[in-house]
Amino acid sequence: MMRTQVGIVGAGPSGLLLAHLLGLQGVESVVLENRSREYVEQRVRAGVLEQGAVDVFREAGLAGRIEAEGLVHHGIELRFAGQGHRIAMSELTGGRTITIYGQNRVVADLVAARLAAGGPLLYEVEGVAVHDLDSDRPSITFTHGGADQVLECDVIAGCDGFHGVCRPAIPEGAITEYERVYPFAWLGILATVAPSTDELIYAHHPNGFALHSLRSPEVSRLYIQVPAGEDMAEWPDDRIWAELHVRLATDDGWTLAEGPIFERGIAPLRSFVVEPMRHGRLFLAGDAAHIVPPTGAKGLNLAVADVTVLAAALADFFATGSEVGLDAYSDTCLRRVWQAQRFSWWMTSMLHRFPDEGPFAARLQLAQLDHVVTSKAAATALAESYVGLPIP
Ligand code: APR
Ligand code: PHB
Repeated sequence: MMRTQVGIVGAGPSGLLLAHLLGLQGVESVVLENRSREYVEQRVRAGVLEQGAVDVFREAGLAGRIEAEGLVHHGIELRFAGQGHRIAMSELTGGRTITIYGQNRVVADLVAARLAAGGPLLYEVEGVAVHDLDSDRPSITFTHGGADQVLECDVIAGCDGFHGVCRPAIPEGAITEYERVYPFAWLGILATVAPSTDELIYAHHPNGFALHSLRSPEVSRLYIQVPAGEDMAEWPDDRIWAELHVRLATDDGWTLAEGPIFERGIAPLRSFVVEPMRHGRLFLAGDAAHIVPPTGAKGLNLAVADVTVLAAALADFFATGSEVGLDAYSDTCLRRVWQAQRFSWWMTSMLHRFPDEGPFAARLQLAQLDHVVTSKAAATALAESYVGLPIP
């Protein structure tokens, strides 16, 4: 039998950052992850950090590599009907910025910090199950290295992503789930080629959405909308590039440089929220509690916000016994979560081809885009949401 204050299920950005923030406040935790360290550090995900998220990393002493190697951006481009239009994000938001830094590098930095701090972090645990959530001694059972283990906790943090075991352990009827599944997915690639743009390009095209992002001066990150359930085998490299050229083309002869593709994957688009983000002594954070479609680049930032709020509430609980912060956790987070849902749904609706909707809807999207790039008020609204609400 092992014992800790906070048992953390999942070593993604949520679980690892929570462990680090708790450690800074002298709260003990054990982190349990069912995959291997290599798998989690190599899993390629999105890469946009709001300024508020970078601030959280800096204050926690974690921003060394982000500040040295992250790319600070002051604007984004919306491209439609053959023309690009810059949204001057920083000018419209009193100087706020975003930083491009791959989520797998965020995870690698957090793992390094956890190992340096000497905190328990167990990989390749099997059969994780959570128990006695309604008591003040919840526990986690699992198998590690062939041995059955029981971890007794004061509190459990469910940071185990959308497909984890914590949310399903909550009795039916105690939570409400809200969900929208979109009839398309994103095919994403990493290619060894200098980005053909300095800023992110979000493109609306009759064939579907495309996004030109980047990871470094040598590596481009690109996405195209494909049908839901699409098989990667349908998309040889030539077809991916051909479609990117078509969807990103402008009337003024902008060109897209091609390079070897070294990573590819297809991810479905979904909006999902569970309410409340708590059951008894189990607290859900990050993708375990909510999923946003990637068009607003909010997934990682919501995870950072959740665990920042949770770490402060837990530190107060362990220092004083007060449950005020813990009781407010779900409502505090859900307000921001629903704002991110609203923005992510809006960006998704404005920029994608919806196979079941006709030409009227497509024409309205162009009117919406035209409005955003010609009305300073509308551009400001987009910019404010894109750079993000203050954390927490
Ligand atoms: N036991 C232990 N660990 C588990 C279990 C389980 N039963 N199920 C899942 N996990 C692990 C996963 O392997 C993963 O490493 O939990 C971790 C959850 O990490 P993420 O899915 O990255 O979720 P989170 O940490 O909340 O980060 C949110 O991830 O999906 C992106 O866009 C999203 O950027 C956002 C971020
Ligand atoms: C990325 O760089 O992976 C990225 C950027 C912006 C998004 C989504 C993903 O909206």
